[in-house]
Amino acid sequence: MPTFLTHSAEETQAVARDLAEDLKAGDVLLLSGNLGAGKTVFVRGLAEGLGLDPGEVSSPTFTLVHEYRGGRLTLYHADLYRVEQAAAGDLGLEEMGVEDGVLAIEWPDRLAYGISGAMRVVIDAVDDHARRIVVGA
Ligand SMILES: Nc1ncnc2c1ncn2[C@@H]1O[C@H](COP(=O)(O)OP(=O)(O)OP(=O)(O)O)[C@@H](O)[C@H]1O
Ligand SMILES: [Mg+2]
Repeated sequence: MPTFLTHSAEETQAVARDLAEDLKAGDVLLLSGNLGAGKTVFVRGLAEGLGLDPGEVSSPTFTLVHEYRGGRLTLYHADLYRVEQAAAGDLGLEEMGVEDGVLAIEWPDRLAYGISGAMRVVIDAVDDHARRIVVGA
């Protein structure tokens, strides 16, 4: 599986930016990794690669899903950290019609169900600034 070793947030963002070029409508990315691993940084890179403003991306606090429009594809960003177990209805994904865009989910282990065809991205902190990123099925 493609593995990357990065040494700064900028490098992690760049990995995701490059990956975003290959994304198509309906793609789902499941972003795993500990607190502070760099999942949100990764989503900023996805935003950049899709032609969106990476500075707009923050962790959704009061809404589970943020929506960024105006790029090559709409980016949906879910952070399920505060969710005990998310059911499909709770997320409102169907209502949002996420098939028209790319959905990136932080803390996907909170989901009560699997998402078939989703791409897994696992980020591990090697030390303060080094991260190992494994991108795979
Ligand atoms: N190589 C690196 N890649 C990504 N982030 C890095 C790297 N080195 C240091 N950092 C720092 O690690 C932090 C990553 O924060 P980020 O919010 O992306 O983590 P997260 O995985 O989304 O955490 P949470 O689970 O709390 O949402 C940032 O402060 C970033 O600057
Ligand atoms: Mg985050």
